[in-house]
Amino acid sequence: MEALALERKAEQNRELRERLLQLKKERNAIILAHYYQRDEIQEVADFRGDSFLLAQKAAATDADVIVFCGVHFMGESAKILAPNKTVLVPDERAGCPMADMVNPVGLRELKAKHPNAKVVTYINSSADVKAETDICCTSSNAIKVVNSVDADEIIWCPDKNLGHYVSKFTDKKMIIWEGYCNTHDMLTVKDVVEMRAKYPNAQFVVHPECRPEVVEMADYVGSTTGILKYCKESDCKEFIVGTEDGTGYQLRLDSPDKTFHFASKFLVCPNMKVNNLKKVVRALETMQPEIYVPEDVADKARLSLERMLQVK
Ligand code: 13P
Ligand code: SF4
Repeated sequence: MEALALERKAEQNRELRERLLQLKKERNAIILAHYYQRDEIQEVADFRGDSFLLAQKAAATDADVIVFCGVHFMGESAKILAPNKTVLVPDERAGCPMADMVNPVGLRELKAKHPNAKVVTYINSSADVKAETDICCTSSNAIKVVNSVDADEIIWCPDKNLGHYVSKFTDKKMIIWEGYCNTHDMLTVKDVVEMRAKYPNAQFVVHPECRPEVVEMADYVGSTTGILKYCKESDCKEFIVGTEDGTGYQLRLDSPDKTFHFASKFLVCPNMKVNNLKKVVRALETMQPEIYVPEDVADKARLSLERMLQVK
């Protein structure tokens, strides 16, 4: 962007931030933002976090309104956990292709084939699918959740890559759904080989939503929060990062003296980036788009989320 355009954008954002502060007070609202959101949203959030932390925050808040800046399933989870709150999203078109790769009909069919199995569903799924689920998990607690389940057989959905990673840390038989994240699955062995050659002193950190052969190459494998913690605490000064590029905001905030190279230019989730600051302000102005989950679905889905929140 040219200097003038940049200055105009900065001025616009200043005005938007002021308006947002005013609206937040008027509506008694909080802003929750996933680490993959644009910097301009993460900057104004009351809480930045991964799926797990944000679900906890939604369940615990005493605000009247939650503006959930992430993708649709996250807003739904917030509504399920806080049914008496108004949950707004900046743009209802921000969906998650991985969540759309499983539906309740298909899941019911698989359950019928494996009557002794318990269903563990990644939080990246619709409320309908959660309603068919015994217990949810996120990438930060997936191994713990699977091992906590009282069954020898697990139906795991929808992420095959995370499922494959988890299967290495459990004796349970895992029946794995064939879903994947379009963004993380794009990272290849070739990308990592090239980056390692370019930055030989850097450590490679990766999210388990990436392909197994890519995960195999990592110095550290973990959820978004795991990656943030590892990079912050490590003595290493340079990292090749195998997760969504929005994470750069928190990585740089935590460690301004360290260098972060994203492992591929494709590590950008277009769905997460549908949201922007202007839409956050508009959501609070108009109180739209609001998330609704039918009560019968929410009641069933809530059990699977609450079971997850109870796993220690
Ligand atoms: P986490 O927040 O669980 O690391 O999730 C990764 C992700 O892809 C969210 O959409
Ligand atoms: Fe879905 Fe992947 Fe985007 Fe997360 S990063 S919202 S899993 S498409």
